[in-house]
Amino acid sequence: MKIAVPKELHKDEGRVAASPETVKKYIDMGFEVAVEKGAGLNSSVSDDDFKNAGAKIQSGKDLYKNANLILKVQKPMLKSEGTDEVSLYEKNATVVASVSAMTSPGHLKAYENAGINIVAMELVPRITRAQSMDILSSQSNLAGYKAVLDATEYLDKAMPMMMTAAGTISPAKVLIIGAGVAGLQAIATAKRLGAVVSAFDVRAAAKEQVESLGASFIEVEGETAEGKGGYAKEVSDDYKKRQAQKLKEELAKSDIVISTALIPGRPAPKIITADMVKEMSAGSVIVDLAVEMGGNCELSEFGKVVEKHGVKIVGHANVPSRLARDASKLYAKNLLNFVTLLFDKEANTLNFNMEDEILKDATVVLNGKINRSDLIPTKTIPKKTAATKAAQEKK
Ligand code: NAI
Repeated sequence: MKIAVPKELHKDEGRVAASPETVKKYIDMGFEVAVEKGAGLNSSVSDDDFKNAGAKIQSGKDLYKNANLILKVQKPMLKSEGTDEVSLYEKNATVVASVSAMTSPGHLKAYENAGINIVAMELVPRITRAQSMDILSSQSNLAGYKAVLDATEYLDKAMPMMMTAAGTISPAKVLIIGAGVAGLQAIATAKRLGAVVSAFDVRAAAKEQVESLGASFIEVEGETAEGKGGYAKEVSDDYKKRQAQKLKEELAKSDIVISTALIPGRPAPKIITADMVKEMSAGSVIVDLAVEMGGNCELSEFGKVVEKHGVKIVGHANVPSRLARDASKLYAKNLLNFVTLLFDKEANTLNFNMEDEILKDATVVLNGKINRSDLIPTKTIPKKTAATKAAQEKK
């Protein structure tokens, strides 16, 4: 059995899906491992590091020849995106990657047509047994930390309180919107730097976690929005209004705002409006970690740092990749733990046991067929046709 680890092609991607540590483990398990030349360079891992761990360094067709398992960070690109990665793979090869499967039905169709198997690591269920495979947690944790450092880069004031002979500097006020994995790490990081931190989330369960980190929780009266699997679901319009009023007051007091609010498979909720930004103090900074899903702030721009109404709005793309060395190390370990479950050592084969909840949820394409058809939107009837149909039925 051969594992291939390609160099990632996406512009903002510096991570790699294996580490010297995981390569050694795969070889112990009986795999042959080939890593593409230069695959680890943006994560500070040299070809020699991989070679010393036992991998072969290969390029082009040699890399994919007889490869049963391809480990990637980003989903394979299609021809329409510039490079047809899928055409390089052997038929029946299995790709394990972060696929964004819920928002990429077109890709799933293309993978189905290509006859490859695809595992979407972001769909591994958040159950205790799968914690060591949870790429969302390992990567969001680093993103939450980095978001605070990114904010301090643009903030023109100090984070901690400083009492000096020339006067006292007040501590920076940091507001975290969305207290999931990234938000909680952002709270911890901002606290370590000496800021006064408050946080807000639609899930009631977040209150205790926020307070245990020494931050204050902003309460909005009304329903809470705990959905399936501990994730948030969309809130009512009435709640949104109350939330907006409360946040407006908090935003005006904040030096830094880190927004991390996401709803799985949906565009990020728009929480910070242009009007709210106008009310913020000049010099304050917003870091929009949700920018890849459309952003929590109306004025943030993907991949850019912009200044609006005197407020700097940071919309860096792919924040985990900004800490590529650590992000790759953890991501590679998540994949190793998943492959250990998938690999049947005795039979020397990959065993897609659909009785196993983890494999069933994460395997999106299997044997040339979409396994998670629930991710493919059913066609909606165009309005005109629906109206015509209703009129006909009336007759
Ligand atoms: P996420 O990345 O999907 O969302 C980030 C945060 O934004 C969440 O806390 C969510 O409640 C919040 N949010 C959504 N809409 C919002 C709005 N309109 N206003 C304010 N906040 C909003 O979530 P993440 O970080 O992946 O964590 C989701 C849950 O999963 C958490 O409860 C976390 O503790 C839990 N979890 C469980 C694990 C396990 O059991 N193995 C592992 C990791 C996380």
